Amino acid sequence: MEALLRAAIAVRSNAHAPYSRFPVGAAVLAEGRIYAGCNVENSSFPLSVCAERNAVAAAIAAGARSIDAVAIVAGTGRPGPPCGGCRQVLAEFCAADTRVLYAAAGGGSVETTLGALLPEAFGAADLAPAPRRGSRSSGR
Ligand code: THU
Repeated sequence: MEALLRAAIAVRSNAHAPYSRFPVGAAVLAEGRIYAGCNVENSSFPLSVCAERNAVAAAIAAGARSIDAVAIVAGTGRPGPPCGGCRQVLAEFCAADTRVLYAAAGGGSVETTLGALLPEAFGAADLAPAPRRGSRSSGR
């Protein structure tokens, strides 16, 4: 977790956040390696991308498919938790018990799990087709 936090702190300094002035750094441990991302804002505001999503994209682009831990550094006063959209994106590759640490740049941190941050997450299993009415088979 310490190495992940260090990676999140380091990448936060590369954030492109001229509009919000709220730089964020995130790092994920995926299949034994650390991947980092920062928020990248755009003058067309909705096109901005969160740090967590960029860290996930780096891991996936490198060929990883499973994330074992997450660290985020956001905010100076109080630790900034991941936004709802990023919770859903993380859930695609994390388990409910995957550790998530979010910290303020000036100190102070919260350690929790993805399941606590996003209970009852929508996932791939929810896309399984419903059994056909009148069918006696298990649906397989
Ligand atoms: N931001 C993140 O990078 N991650 C989050 O989970 C919350 C918000 C970014 C988006 C935007 O660039 C800035 O923080 C202010 O919302």
